[in-house]
Amino acid sequence: MRIDIVTLFPEFFAGPLATSLLGRALGRGIAQVHCTNPRDFALDRHRTVDDIPYGGGAGMVMKPEPLFAAVESLPVCEPRAVVLLTPQGQPLRQALLRELSGFAQLVLVCGHYEGVDERVRTHLATHEISLGDFVLTGGEIPALALVDGVVRLLPGTVGNRESLASESFEEGLLEYPHYTRPADFRGWKVPEVLLSGHHAQIARWRREQQILRTRARRPDLLPPEPCPPNS
Ligand SMILES: C[S@@+](CC[C@H](N)C(=O)[O-])C[C@H]1O[C@@H](n2cnc3c(N)ncnc32)[C@H](O)[C@@H]1O
Repeated sequence: MRIDIVTLFPEFFAGPLATSLLGRALGRGIAQVHCTNPRDFALDRHRTVDDIPYGGGAGMVMKPEPLFAAVESLPVCEPRAVVLLTPQGQPLRQALLRELSGFAQLVLVCGHYEGVDERVRTHLATHEISLGDFVLTGGEIPALALVDGVVRLLPGTVGNRESLASESFEEGLLEYPHYTRPADFRGWKVPEVLLSGHHAQIARWRREQQILRTRARRPDLLPPEPCPPNS
């Protein structure tokens, strides 16, 4: 997969993209990430990328020309998604990460200031994605979260692919609790069943925990209860 990040701050990505599982995956060529700075495509000698909003109001708006030119300068690999990071977009969820992991190329457009000229949304982006119902200063953190979540799903990033299947949000459930040694830490004991070596009982306990946790913390993930029969 090829991932292009269109950002005014390419230096933001250097550390995270070189670190841990993500860094190893990119080092092994599982995906290639390139940063392109729209400032390099500005039309004037001051390399201006923002301007005042038509109609007045606070803040600056990112100009369309440098953003279009930056995206249009990129090689195209099909199928490709051009993602505008915006708090007004579709919320980023595991199912959406899975969908995005099927593209050959992701182009991630990071906004700043008051946001981007509306024509970027209507004529350049194929997807609008939000990290959540809050407003950040720029699209870099959402873009990084998206890259991490997508690359993690690509074959070869996570050694044991079975571990992906039981994880939170796969099958619409949160994952069960994990324990490791010691079996007794400050008197807080690991549940007996996990020490039993009885695989079927462990699997049953984990499934129950998944359902209990999801019901307690994220009931919105569970299908609606069936209606009681008419009495
Ligand atoms: C300060 S925000 C602009 C918010 C915009 N004025 C609004 O009210 O919708 C600047 C940029 O940060 C990014 N951003 C901020 N919060 C985000 C979020 N929750 N999800 C995705 N991108 C976000 C977007 O790229 C956005 O263009």
